[in-house]
Order: sequence, then structure tokens, then C-alpha cells
Amino acid sequence: MFVKKLAAAGMNPVIAARRIGLLDDLRERLTSEYGAQVRCLQVDLSQDDFLKRWIEVCGDIEVGMLINNAGSGVPGLFSQSDIELEKGLIRLNCIAPVEISHHFLPRMLARRKGAIIFFSSLMGFQGVPYMANYSATKGYLLNFGESHHHECKDAGVDILVLAQGAKETPGKYLYPVDYSKLPITWMSAEEVVDAALKSINRKAFVIPGLRNHLTACLSGGLWSRGLVQGIMKRMARIALPLKEE
Ligand SMILES: NC(=O)c1ccc[n+]([C@@H]2O[C@H](COP(=O)([O-])OP(=O)(O)OC[C@H]3O[C@@H](n4cnc5c(N)ncnc54)[C@H](OP(=O)(O)O)[C@@H]3O)[C@@H](O)[C@H]2O)c1
Repeated sequence: MFVKKLAAAGMNPVIAARRIGLLDDLRERLTSEYGAQVRCLQVDLSQDDFLKRWIEVCGDIEVGMLINNAGSGVPGLFSQSDIELEKGLIRLNCIAPVEISHHFLPRMLARRKGAIIFFSSLMGFQGVPYMANYSATKGYLLNFGESHHHECKDAGVDILVLAQGAKETPGKYLYPVDYSKLPITWMSAEEVVDAALKSINRKAFVIPGLRNHLTACLSGGLWSRGLVQGIMKRMARIALPLKEE
């Protein structure tokens, strides 16, 4: 959705993911609908050498906006999870956005122009039982991005943390979560993207949706965060196919 909005606004995106077939399809659609010149980058951002692939594909262009969208989670009991998956999650959710931003930021600062978006989550405002590593990576991005915003705001580069709640995307179906048992209000990708694009240059972080905003107020409160953790724990036990602890 981000890439569609930006192509419609006349930008020429570089899109990156592991499934090159999906990227090629998207490139065709963006070219035929908006006349955008699109480059595709097949890359696994959880691997150590991913930045080399980035530089090969877009080393010759000025990157004006960097959208660190890729991210994932490993729901379940941490003590029973695959440690390689957990380490890959930290590389994908934290190391990759930090390393890519560190690479492109000096060029943006030299031009005094540019924007970077980090994808946090409502789960980044407090620990979330059964999503321990995911919520920790999203908390990392929230603190990292906010700090970074204040470091760069007088230098012409806008840094925004997008702390979204539940959003309708294909990622929703990656794990066996029974969402019908949860009191979740899903936002559309378009609503979330519009809120983010409106907030660039105005805020350090944005939480799309009033209900999400209220949840974040409770989650981040010193006295109320335990309450939210308790509710999240109960919800996870209802909706996840957990093994015996
Ligand atoms: N959806 C929500 O409810 C929600 C809520 C809060 C925060 N978020 C955050 O928002 C971001 C986007 O979420 P989403 O729901 O839109 O996810 P999604 O539908 O699963 O899409 C994730 C994208 O990242 C790519 N990706 C995943 N792993 C990758 C890897 N190792 N290397 C390169 N690309 C990779 C995927 O393509 P390939 O699989 O082809 O690589 C896909 O294009 C994430 O950071 C997520 O944590 C989402």
C-alpha cells in the first residue's frame, strides 16, 4: 500500500522481499497504473550479507524515502521456540532496519532531505506474553526511531515510528492464530498508510486509530502496563494452539 501511494505520487520505488514473483507482479502493476520505474530486489533481510544486495540494486540512485516495512513474529512460548528463528527475527526486525538506515542516512543528511519510517507496533509499548521476542524488537524500534527522530529533525531528515495495531495484511495468516476469539478491530492498510504519510515531518511516532491510541496509553503507563500484559496473556492463551508448558 505504501508503495502504491508513493508510485501514484510520482516516485520510482525500489521494492525488496524474498519472493521475487510477487515483486515482479507488483512492478508490472505499478508501471502500468502509474508509469513508475520500479526496481525489484530479491533479498532475505535476516541474512548477514543483505546490505551488499541493496547496494548492487540501488547504489546509483538517491533514496529519498526509506520504508522499513519487513517484519515478522514467532508466536508461542519462548522456552519451546526454535532459537534460530528467534535470532533471525532479531536480525529482520532490528538489525536490518538499523543497518539499512545507517547506510542511507548520511546521503540524506548531506542533501538535508529525506525520510525514514520504522515499523513498531502496539506490542512495542509493553512486553507481550507468547510474543516476547516480537514485542521486544518492536519496543527497540520505538525507542530507536524516536531517538533518531530528535537527532535528525533539525538536519532536514524526517524519522517516523509507525506504531500500528491490527492491520489487514497477508501476514495475518502466517501463523495459526484463531482471530475469531479475539476482540480485535482491524484497520485497513490504506488507513494506516494515510496516517503515517500525514505524520511524516510532524511527529516522532504515530499510532493510527483512536482505539489503538487509547490502548497504547494504557500499555505505556507505569501503573497500567501490567494490566494490559495480563489481558494480552489471556487473549494469547485463547487464540494460540499452545503446547503444554
Ligand atoms: N499486520 C499487523 O497487524 C501489524 C501490526 C503491527 C505491526 N506490524 C508490522 O508492520 C510490518 C508489516 O507487517 P505486515 O502485516 O504488512 O506483514 P506481511 O503482510 O507479512 O508483509 C511483510 C513483508 O515483508 C517481507 N519479508 C518478510 N520477511 C522478510 C525477510 N526475511 N527478508 C525480506 N523481506 C521479508 C514479506 O515478503 P517475503 O515473504 O516475500 O519476503 C512481505 O512483503 C511488520 O514490521 C510488522 O511487524 C503489523
